[in-house]
Amino acid sequence: MSIRRLPEHLVNRIAAGEVVERPASALKELVENAIDAGARNIVVRLSDGGIGGIEVIDDGCGMGRDDMALALERHATSKLPDDAIERVATLGFRGEALPSIASVATLTIESRVRGAEGWRRVIDNGKLVEEGPAALPPGTRVKVEGLFARVPARAKFLRSERSEYAACVDIVRRLAMARPEIGFTLEHDGRRAIAVQPDETRPERVAALIDRELVRNSVAVDHVREGLLLGGVAGLPTFSRGVADHQYLFVNGRPVKDRLLIGSVRAAYQDLLARDRHPVLALFLEVPAEEVDVNVHPAKTEVRFREAGLVRGMIVGGLRAALDSAGHRSAQRPSAAALGRWQTEPLAPQWAPATPSSQGSVWDNAPAYAPQPMARAEQAFAPAPAAVEYPLGVARGQVAATYIVAEASDGLILVDQQAAHERLVLERMRRAMADGGVARQALLLPEVVELDEPACDRLEARASELAEMGLELERFGAKAMLVRATPALLGASDAKQLAIDLADELAAYDEALGLKEKLDSIAGTMACHGSVRAGRILSVAEMNALLREMEITPHSGQCNHGRPTWVKLSHGDIEKLFGRK
Ligand SMILES: Nc1ncnc2c1ncn2[C@@H]1O[C@H](COP(=O)(O)OP(=O)(O)OP(=O)(O)O)[C@@H](O)[C@H]1O
Ligand SMILES: [Mg+2]
Repeated sequence: MSIRRLPEHLVNRIAAGEVVERPASALKELVENAIDAGARNIVVRLSDGGIGGIEVIDDGCGMGRDDMALALERHATSKLPDDAIERVATLGFRGEALPSIASVATLTIESRVRGAEGWRRVIDNGKLVEEGPAALPPGTRVKVEGLFARVPARAKFLRSERSEYAACVDIVRRLAMARPEIGFTLEHDGRRAIAVQPDETRPERVAALIDRELVRNSVAVDHVREGLLLGGVAGLPTFSRGVADHQYLFVNGRPVKDRLLIGSVRAAYQDLLARDRHPVLALFLEVPAEEVDVNVHPAKTEVRFREAGLVRGMIVGGLRAALDSAGHRSAQRPSAAALGRWQTEPLAPQWAPATPSSQGSVWDNAPAYAPQPMARAEQAFAPAPAAVEYPLGVARGQVAATYIVAEASDGLILVDQQAAHERLVLERMRRAMADGGVARQALLLPEVVELDEPACDRLEARASELAEMGLELERFGAKAMLVRATPALLGASDAKQLAIDLADELAAYDEALGLKEKLDSIAGTMACHGSVRAGRILSVAEMNALLREMEITPHSGQCNHGRPTWVKLSHGDIEKLFGRK
């Protein structure tokens, strides 16, 4: 398709602003051009974090000699043949990128259309300095050198090579994720940083670029609603990270960093993760072109949806459905670090091997006392059912009055009883709320809870919602509340502490969250109060009941703060611990 100058009325509609701010933004434009050119393989070479040089080589359609001259003019593009800026299907559409880059760097562009001769043009900070024939395979090769070298005002905003490089890697990773049918290679100062082959499936590509472990620790997202399509891979809450860098979001094949999308993801994981944990995921949203405006940001990284509410509901709903399907799954194996500790814990002398081990210090330095029995294994009097039938196995005992030990057909399972129970109570509350409200249990004597005035105001303002959740509160003077009833499924809970915690909860999140999330987080706080504490002795029957309920309860693999509720030592892991394997 040939390149033409855009008519004035379209030029005026293009989001104005700085296209090239740093090496990564120049790189983004060049790789997008290669993708739009129909490349099957794209090679990126960077030097000095992209500050020294950026080279992008593609095997796409290439450009003829005349088109190449036009490509370097502002507002000349091949990508809006019918002026329909509302329905753009390519990544580029403004005809701005190449001239913008060429005006602040030395840009060498070589291109060849199959069956024709290749041609080269070199533009130095906006001026054509060289042109002539070039020998290259069909496709295009663009080199950018000395970015901002003659624009000191801009050069001073460049950050360290390392951080510019990190931004470049992020760009390539996102674009490579968007297009699993294209092969990508990224080399930095001669070293290969990314190499993915063409024609991968989307999950393969995502895992290759984020983390191979994601395959075993994620669920597939696949959701359709009112002409919108949401696909991708969502990490299990137990596979979360401390930073939000590993959230890759795409709209119609375009990587975006959009506040609406980021907020929707947070809402979907809200009660599955602690506040400082972030999910790992790649989500691909496909919407009809007229539902989304991509022309709102000079670097095309933000979009505007016509129906934000629909998109938000779609993402929260799609993610929840996918995560619900994970049931009691969690990152199941104890972490390598935890296993390692288990393996090397020195034994008390009477249990240590008679011959000094290779690490003789185990024997020498071991504390000279016998361990206090922390564990208490209750005898299962009834004939123990076969472990085979249940994924989480059959309870064999309790350790430290905190952990349930169960035997499954393929290994040993440890359950954190408090974490697991908290999650079960939350899910019960949710079901009850969905079925029209949580049953209340009236207190024999209403309890007076003294709080500061704003806390009382907040609780009072939410009294009717809290009542639906089984907590009946009433204002009692300026600085106190009267608790009349608590949610029945919390059992005998501390009404006073519950009211205090809820007031805090409302203070922190009242503004920030929508009603639905607010209710969820309140339910989470309540569940905390109603759960079996660590330290409570459980009977075998109670333990088994907990295991069975976990197996059929959504999200029971993680507690309300995103930590795992259970771990498994497979028979293989146990064999490894004893050096049998
Ligand atoms: N790697 C490439 N292979 C083939 N043609 C290209 C390549 N890069 C650029 N072109 C041609 O040059 C034109 C101008 O590119 P440029 O990136 O400046 O603008 P654009 O991609 O049309 O829009 P945008 O400014 O939004 O990126 C493109 O429309 C395309 O026709
Ligand atoms: Mg472009």
